[in-house]
Amino acid sequence: MNAIMENLLTRRSCRSFLAKPIPEDQLQDILKAACYAPSGRGLQTWQFTAVTDRSKIQRLASVIKETLGRDGYNMYDPQVIILPSNETDSPYGKEDNACALENIFLAAHSYGIGSVWINQLQGICEEPIIRAILTEFGIPENHTVYGLAALGYPAMELPKDVSKKGLVKIVT
Ligand SMILES: Cc1cc2nc3c(=O)[nH]c(=O)nc-3n(C[C@H](O)[C@H](O)[C@H](O)COP(=O)(O)O)c2cc1C
Repeated sequence: MNAIMENLLTRRSCRSFLAKPIPEDQLQDILKAACYAPSGRGLQTWQFTAVTDRSKIQRLASVIKETLGRDGYNMYDPQVIILPSNETDSPYGKEDNACALENIFLAAHSYGIGSVWINQLQGICEEPIIRAILTEFGIPENHTVYGLAALGYPAMELPKDVSKKGLVKIVT
């Protein structure tokens, strides 16, 4: 098996992170991987916003907690979040950003950095207290965040041998 396949098969979602910073050059590579994802008609109407200040990350977690009424919600207290956003009226925004998120997860994993998709912003971006923080982060008003990546070095043992039994059919 080649190294790319190995990386792809061993990525697992991580939901507990060490208080250890992600090196800047690796974060830049992860963001580059996001930019190189496919996008519908190659439009690339997206933006990738990385937040490295944990107090800002926790302010966002706190308004999500308030909006959704989820006690104790802290987005797993990651070191970094990357928020892919896309033009709300883009016909491909959600799909483009999902492709970019997978590139982010795989690039992070290649550096031993854990990651997980955080879905809670989906549907609440236009709540005023959420939009205010997105604006503060520099996310354009006409952009929606569908999912974001929480990143950090794993503070948990991630399962190595998982069985993913997808439905595969080859028609010859
Ligand atoms: C669209 C989507 C939304 C997800 N939302 C969350 C989430 O909000 N919180 C979370 O902990 N994991 C979330 N996940 C991660 C999945 O739970 C995870 O990928 C799945 O259980 C398979 O595990 P694995 O990533 O370790 O292979 C999401 C994944 C996807 C694709």
